[in-house]
Amino acid sequence: MILSLSSVPSSIMRLRRLTLSFLLGTSFTASGQAFSSSPSQWRKPQITVSPEQRISLAANAIQETMNIFNQTSGQFNVDGNYVYSGVFYGQMADFDLATNGTRFKDLLMTYFLKAEALNPGFLAEFVSRLRSLASSPTYRFFFRTICLRQLQFGVMYGWAAVRAYSAYHESAFLGFAERSWGSMRLYTLSNNDVAAGKSPRKSVQVLKDCSGASLSGGTFYIRDDKSSTLSGLPTGLFLT
Ligand SMILES: *[C@@H]1O[C@H](CO)[C@@H](O)[C@H](O)[C@H]1NC(C)=O
Ligand SMILES: *[C@@H]1O[C@H](CO)[C@@H](O)[C@H](O)[C@H]1NC(C)=O
Repeated sequence: MILSLSSVPSSIMRLRRLTLSFLLGTSFTASGQAFSSSPSQWRKPQITVSPEQRISLAANAIQETMNIFNQTSGQFNVDGNYVYSGVFYGQMADFDLATNGTRFKDLLMTYFLKAEALNPGFLAEFVSRLRSLASSPTYRFFFRTICLRQLQFGVMYGWAAVRAYSAYHESAFLGFAERSWGSMRLYTLSNNDVAAGKSPRKSVQVLKDCSGASLSGGTFYIRDDKSSTLSGLPTGLFLT
């Protein structure tokens, strides 16, 4: 996720602290699985930070992120924030999964409900606005506002909900995950779609293969019914 975050130029500055928190949270997840042992092929397999210290580091990272999180909306107050909040939910669930606790359970239930109310089925196209900085007429060309859209980010909620279901074994979380994947499934090509050369979601023809490889299982880049572009990012996220 760090790569996706840093590929959004307009939000980088505001998200620097957030990314840092995710880094800590992510490294904690790796360590959390290794409270007893760590894989010997790691460059430094000896973990000298005690489990208590690691838990404290992760809890602090989540708290730090919570300080810039809008707890009323359950979202971050940044353009195109929907994906980041989903990632954050997953980090909170991971914390409880690693510590066998329920610290974030009730909060997460509230947040998932709010996130789903915001975008039914967690289906959202990421929108990031890039604005020009210059004001000289010479650079008028650069005054445009560019919107970036990508379909895959709502599925982060599916990933996060599965983490939460693993941590709490509560069926509501499984329901969130199923609805998120159901949304992405609508935009993923089935064998039948590929054979028919069309998708119920698209008005354009769907190619059968790309350089000899079947397009079955590919997920569309955006919702626009005239766009037939498939993208590796949503495809990979959907599959995992
Ligand atoms: C937090 O979200 C609520 C509900 O969407 C909104 O009314 C409020 O303005 C937000 N707070 C900030 C600081 O943006
Ligand atoms: C996890 O927590 C539950 C409930 O508190 C407890 O019954 C269980 O033994 C714990 N599991 C581990 C591995 O600590």
